[in-house]
Amino acid sequence: MDKILVTGGLGFIGSHTVVELQNEGYDVVIIDDLSNSSINVLDGITSITGKKPIFEKLDLKDKAGVEAFFEKHNDVKGVIHFAASKAVGESVEKPLLYYENNIGTLVYLLKELKKLPEASFIFSSSCTVYGQADELPITESAPVKQAESPYGNTKQIGEEIISDTCKVTPSIKAIALRYFNPVGAHESANIGELPIGVPQNLVPFITQTGIGLREQLSVFGDDYPTPDGTCIRDYIHVVDLAKAHVVALKRLLGNKNKANYETFNLGTGKGSSVLEVVQAFERVSGKKLNYKIVGRREGDIISAYADTTKANEELGWKTKLTLDDALRSAWKWEQKIRG
Ligand SMILES: NC(=O)c1ccc[n+]([C@@H]2O[C@H](COP(=O)([O-])OP(=O)(O)OC[C@H]3O[C@@H](n4cnc5c(N)ncnc54)[C@H](O)[C@@H]3O)[C@@H](O)[C@H]2O)c1
Repeated sequence: MDKILVTGGLGFIGSHTVVELQNEGYDVVIIDDLSNSSINVLDGITSITGKKPIFEKLDLKDKAGVEAFFEKHNDVKGVIHFAASKAVGESVEKPLLYYENNIGTLVYLLKELKKLPEASFIFSSSCTVYGQADELPITESAPVKQAESPYGNTKQIGEEIISDTCKVTPSIKAIALRYFNPVGAHESANIGELPIGVPQNLVPFITQTGIGLREQLSVFGDDYPTPDGTCIRDYIHVVDLAKAHVVALKRLLGNKNKANYETFNLGTGKGSSVLEVVQAFERVSGKKLNYKIVGRREGDIISAYADTTKANEELGWKTKLTLDDALRSAWKWEQKIRG
């Protein structure tokens, strides 16, 4: 079976994708520098699949290290590139760190892929490229808006770099996957999201509040023009998201792609408000969540959810798991890691 490189493969989405790749029989080699993950994730993956992926501890900012990796693993057929820094607020404080880690590393990888006879490349992009879209649900042809943060900008620039490279390098086929809001954990509770410090995302904040690690969840604004006044997002279960990567990879490896650079939205197509996510948590955990409504947070988009038609029809992929499934698995994971 083909050897697939997963960068950032010990991170949240990467680890779930490694599991799905191994379940499909792929040989997986992971690069991670452990800057936002733990080596224990390797055991979590192995306990689920029964097979330890090859692990190379490497900082992708180390250009010579990346070159040496490809000399050693010159039989890599595909790359799924998750490794990046992802904290929006931090990116505003430290833009150069973000440009170096998210753009520099992408360039080094593509330079190596250019040397291979053929390469399939999947890039982790984000719905953040759409900003507050003019029309909902959001299709892939919605205009890319001025980025709100250096992090968001790295996703936009990253897509452009890949598109420009593919134009002149037919041996590289690429897909940018624009994720909406990944949540949940593997049903085994052997892998999940491991935020360092105060969680930036809603679901880990909810589960940490549920377990008593945080006192209270602040809901930023209930006076938005939405049915219950709180912001709306498209929460996608990380296992559904991981499976989409395998489908996208197979499309490229099997030469089923329609162009050598394509983009797809990955979401459920359904928007859920902050209060609906809180209610889902309360339903699956049987616990009341301590939350309070506070003022709006600057820069928050009111509503974003995906039009999934292109992914459903072209990739033949659809989400199967629900918001309750996601909250149930996230809660099981939180209880396990604090237990
Ligand atoms: N989680 C989300 O909400 C979300 C939404 C849209 C897009 N994305 C993108 O998806 C990708 C994965 O996100 P995630 O939530 O799994 O993040 P994560 O932080 O859990 O995983 C990223 C992994 O990459 C590693 N890494 C970072 N820089 C590296 C470097 N220079 N060299 C080697 N390894 C490095 C980290 O140690 C970590 O294990 C990122 O590109 C992120 O921007 C995430």
